[in-house]
Amino acid sequence: RTLRIGLIPGDGIGREVIPAGRRILEALPSSLGLKFSFVDLEAGFDTFKQTGVALPDRTVETLKKECDGALFGAVSSPVTATKGYSSPIVALRKKLDLFANVRPVKSVAPSAAYPDPIDLVTVRENTEDLYVKEERSYDTPDGPVAEAIKRISHKASTRIATIAGEIAARRARVRQGLGDTSKQAMVTVTHKSNVLPQTDGLFRSASFAALAAQRFQDAGVKVEEQIIDSMLYKLVLQPAYYDVIVAPNLYGDLLSDTAAALVSSLGLVPSANVGDGIVIGEPCHGSAPDIAGKGISNPIATLRSVALMLDFLDLEEAASKIYAAVDANLADGKLLTPDMGGKAKTDEVVEDVIRRL
Ligand code: NAI
Ligand code: MG
Repeated sequence: RTLRIGLIPGDGIGREVIPAGRRILEALPSSLGLKFSFVDLEAGFDTFKQTGVALPDRTVETLKKECDGALFGAVSSPVTATKGYSSPIVALRKKLDLFANVRPVKSVAPSAAYPDPIDLVTVRENTEDLYVKEERSYDTPDGPVAEAIKRISHKASTRIATIAGEIAARRARVRQGLGDTSKQAMVTVTHKSNVLPQTDGLFRSASFAALAAQRFQDAGVKVEEQIIDSMLYKLVLQPAYYDVIVAPNLYGDLLSDTAAALVSSLGLVPSANVGDGIVIGEPCHGSAPDIAGKGISNPIATLRSVALMLDFLDLEEAASKIYAAVDANLADGKLLTPDMGGKAKTDEVVEDVIRRL
């Protein structure tokens, strides 16, 4: 099988970590029978400064027409409002209908705060809720008032819960393959339907209906629910409890960043933007201007994003090999970048992971 992968480095350390992602794909063992072809695509603030557009049409069209998957590095946002500039990744998610943002968070080693291993995935709905950005303001005798629409649909809630169920089933399968019985597959549906029975109530009922599918039951996926505030409380105190967490857009935004903070460095946390067509892997960190150009950025978030992309392309075996090689590099602890307390360069980490692959 030959897969075409779009490479969108973006700005800053995106230009260092995306080449690392390409290298790991090229280093996959030939026994997997996979071939990759790559296409370099532009987006970001540098692109905007050079051409006046942050997301060129060619990038969108190529992704739509040619690519199975893509890797997106990071983009810098201008510090002051800049006419004509808007975030290319936000635009890409919209244009390609990437309705799910998936973020696995995994601890490197037990810590005093978290002696039990953290290994969870947040699944955030990415197209609606308060982020439809339909706001209005008006004056009243008591002063100005502002309102925003929170839109929840059965369709979007169903498809996000279905993705969460598929992820839980896949994780159960992978754990079973490894003989790991430490954790039961579980999806936690988070909402606040006690206060918002219509909007969050719809998210809740659509999610439960989707997750009741026979194939999820057959995979042993348990489904539970938690109100978002108490869920965050428990996430911080007892993160090892969680497996897959699904949430509407706003709660998912907050909870996915909170979950990322539970592990040591932003340089470790991957994500995937998932839709019905293409999947885009994206490290969670930004363009890190403070370290850009020094060759010391941590490539692991990107390497894991590559694996996550492969997961969603149903290339589980290739994905598992990358996850395992990354975990082995971290467990060994000898070749780590400075954000992890080590001295290694980006390239040395990549080479170490490739050796272990
Ligand atoms: P950031 O994630 O770029 O950096 C925060 C801190 O973490 C910095 O000290 C940085 O050196 C460190 N860090 C991040 N990734 C690292 C890696 N792979 N290896 C080692 N250290 C790493 O967030 P910040 O500084 O708030 O934003 C910088 C720029 O990135 C801004 O223009 C911001 O708008 C943009 N940004 C873009 C994102 C995206 O493209 N999805 C996400 C977050 C920020
Ligand atoms: Mg966020």
